[in-house]
Amino acid sequence: MTYESILVETRGKVGLITLNRPKALNALNSQVMAEVVAAAQAFDADANIGCMVITGSEKAFAAGADIKEMQAKAYAEMYLEDFFVGWEGLTRIRKPIIAAVAGYALGGGCELAMMCDFIIAAENAKFGQPEITLGVMPGMGGSQRLTRFVGKSKAMDMCLTGRMMDAAEAERSGLVSRVVPLEQLLDETMKAADKIAALSLPAVIMNKESVNRAYETTLAEGLRFERRVFHSMFAFEDQKEGMAAFVEKRPANFRNR
Ligand code: HXC
Repeated sequence: MTYESILVETRGKVGLITLNRPKALNALNSQVMAEVVAAAQAFDADANIGCMVITGSEKAFAAGADIKEMQAKAYAEMYLEDFFVGWEGLTRIRKPIIAAVAGYALGGGCELAMMCDFIIAAENAKFGQPEITLGVMPGMGGSQRLTRFVGKSKAMDMCLTGRMMDAAEAERSGLVSRVVPLEQLLDETMKAADKIAALSLPAVIMNKESVNRAYETTLAEGLRFERRVFHSMFAFEDQKEGMAAFVEKRPANFRNR
């Protein structure tokens, strides 16, 4: 597939997707949505890939959903198209996706970052849900995911005032996993992605699935799910290999089975 609004490349076992609409600060229109989801699905299906990274430019990860695309739409159109539903495709990707965020991650941009499995931010990153200033509200999960990340008080503050959070506040609040200098953002993110991609893929996917379960179910159900999945891992050769490698004091050679 040829892509027009994103750049797609493979670096070792990592699939890298770069949002590439610089003139619109990577605003997320329907084409970007379709292309990001298609590229991620292709990496998910590619046995040579173990992890993905989504990034933007130094100035903007993404400054939101494309306001110009949405502006004139009527309610019936939004409803019948189920506008934004396509992004759900990204949440069905099984391999891990890391968001490497520099600059603005606003509105849909913040929501896209939160759809990824974790966020590594550059020192200049700015997160926000400014939809209220446009007379609307988050529509790609912001009111739900941001609340789960940072709690009610900060989520209300962000959604009701539309203010931006800098990288330090985002790390303090649990929105991002780490903050790194801008010039090291991609290197540090690729290092994390390379590390994940070198591990046992089924174990990686099961870890991702289990952490996500924590957001979808009760603690008791989540703990039961975790324990059953954990038991099932002893059917993998990679469990035997990983533990044997530890005991024999050598690096593990995982074969994804
Ligand atoms: C369409 C956008 C855009 C967006 C920026 N641009 N954000 N186009 N949709 N979300 C375009 C601008 O129109 C401009 O194009 C170009 O990108 C550069 O932007 P500037 O505003 O000139 O840059 P700057 O002064 O540096 O300001 C950066 C900014 C500002 C603070 C990020 O662009 C901004 O506030 N953007 C909107 C942020 C926002 O409200 N996002 C939420 C969107 S709604 P031209 O052609 O004029 O040069 C959303 C979810 C909606 O995401 C859910 C409910 C339906």
